Formats: sequence, structure tokens, C-alpha cells
Amino acid sequence: MSVLTFDHVSYQYPGERFNIIDGLSFQVQEGSLHCILGVSGCGKSTIFRMINGLLQPRAGTIRVNGMPVGGQKRACGYMPQKDLLFPWRTVGENLALPLEIQGGLGRTVRLAMVDAALCDVGLAGCRDKRPDELSGGMRQRAAFARTMLTGSDLLLLDEPFSALDFLTRISMQEWLLEQWQKTGKTILFITHDVEEALFLSSSVLVVESTPIRALKEIPVPLGYPRSRKDLARTDIIELREALIGMLRKQVEA
Ligand SMILES: Nc1ncnc2c1ncn2[C@@H]1O[C@H](COP(=O)(O)OP(=O)(O)O)[C@@H](O)[C@H]1O
Ligand SMILES: [Mg+2]
Repeated sequence: MSVLTFDHVSYQYPGERFNIIDGLSFQVQEGSLHCILGVSGCGKSTIFRMINGLLQPRAGTIRVNGMPVGGQKRACGYMPQKDLLFPWRTVGENLALPLEIQGGLGRTVRLAMVDAALCDVGLAGCRDKRPDELSGGMRQRAAFARTMLTGSDLLLLDEPFSALDFLTRISMQEWLLEQWQKTGKTILFITHDVEEALFLSSSVLVVESTPIRALKEIPVPLGYPRSRKDLARTDIIELREALIGMLRKQVEA
């Protein structure tokens, strides 16, 4: 089933003279993991801002689970690049936020859900810490847990690991694949990093030009679970170079 559908969607920023997103159509199937790959400034985050209702398309329709977005509560879970954990709240209090906003749950139930989520992401002992007491990778895992607690089946992750150092980033990518396989959620993941897109995606959705009129779907010939060693395969290296070539064309255009 298609969880997310874009049907001829266009968007123009106020003050701009052209549509940054122009008649874009694509679909995302339930339970899949795709990266949207494109150079900085090409309009990737704009796509997410429309899905989560922060921006309204000027034309076209976006559907989540068959229903038009806008007026739909908790249509998707959104995790921006900066983790946006509130520094004055403890980690546990940060995770409880989506549950408080949702309402209707007693404090004991909320605490139990937060504890279970922290346990899931390997942060069982961190409930009463402040975000600034956590490492970069731990903060991203806490932010991911908070996104999961929105209860949405569609997760939008916007360059969540790009500020992390290399080794933390690759272990977070492995961790994310485990979470995805465990939870069965649908994940859309924005990145400008070709290797990250190859390692995570069943197929990569490439932005080849701005305005964005289409996403070019490039299947990754690797199953799951996968390991970083797979990235050294000749066919994957060739695919990596082809993707780099596609992005370069846009930078040079
Ligand atoms: N509020 C805004 N008003 C006008 N232009 C904007 C606004 N936000 C973003 N843009 C422009 O739209 C383009 C795409 O932005 P964005 O979707 O954030 O790109 P990406 O996530 O691919 O780096 C950028 O070139 C940016 O300058
Ligand atoms: Mg962006």
C-alpha cells in the first residue's frame, strides 16, 4: 500500500519568482526505506515541510495513508537535522512531549511509554539527564525515540546524522537499519551523502535538478541486513560514481 502520495505538487516561496517544487508526483510504499539524495539547496527539506504541513502546496495534493495532509493529526513523525531537544527539560521530559501534546494519557502511562522508548534506543539510564550531558549520537537517538513516540508510521528524517563525526555517523546508520527492521515503520531520509544513501536505501530517490519536477528512483542491488563491506562491491562502487555524476551535473548546471 502507498503510505505517501505526491500528486502534481507545486510550491513557490513567497518572494521567489519560480516554483521550487514543480508538478512533483511520487509514491512511497508502506514499510520501505528511501533516501532522498540531492545537493544542498535543491529543495529537499521543502518536500518534508509540505508533508508535515508547515508549508502548503500551491497546487496538487499530498496524501498520507490515503488522506490529504492538513487537518490530519500525527500524519508523520518529523526529525530535523538539529535535534531540537529542549535543554531545560530532562531527556525523559523531552520524550514525553509528543505524548503530552497528544493528550488523554495519564502520567504513569506516559512514563512507562518513555521508559520503553529509551530502552529501545539504548538510553535506559538517561531519563533524568539533561540533553547537554549526552554525546551527539545519544542526542540523535533520543530525538529519534521522541519522533517514534508521535505514534506515526511514517518517519521523515532530515539529514539527522550529518553533524556527527564519521565513526558515530556510520554506527548510527547501522543502528537506524536495525530500528527500521524492528519497527516496520516507513522511513524517508534526506541526505546529500551518496554513501549514506546507498547504505540505507532500498532505492535512492535522486533530485537531479531544481525546480524539482521528478525524483529519479535508482534501486540499490543489496538486501537487508547489509554491512558496510557491501559498499566495496564493484557494482556498488559503480553505482556510487554514477550517483556522484548525477549530483555533479546539478552543481555545474
Ligand atoms: N523561507 C524561504 N523563502 C525563500 N526561499 C527559501 C526559503 N526557505 C528556503 N528557500 C530556498 O529554497 C531552496 C531550497 O531550500 P531547502 O528545501 O531547504 O533545500 P535543501 O533541503 O535541499 O538544502 C534554497 O535555495 C533556499 O534558498
Ligand atoms: Mg535541507
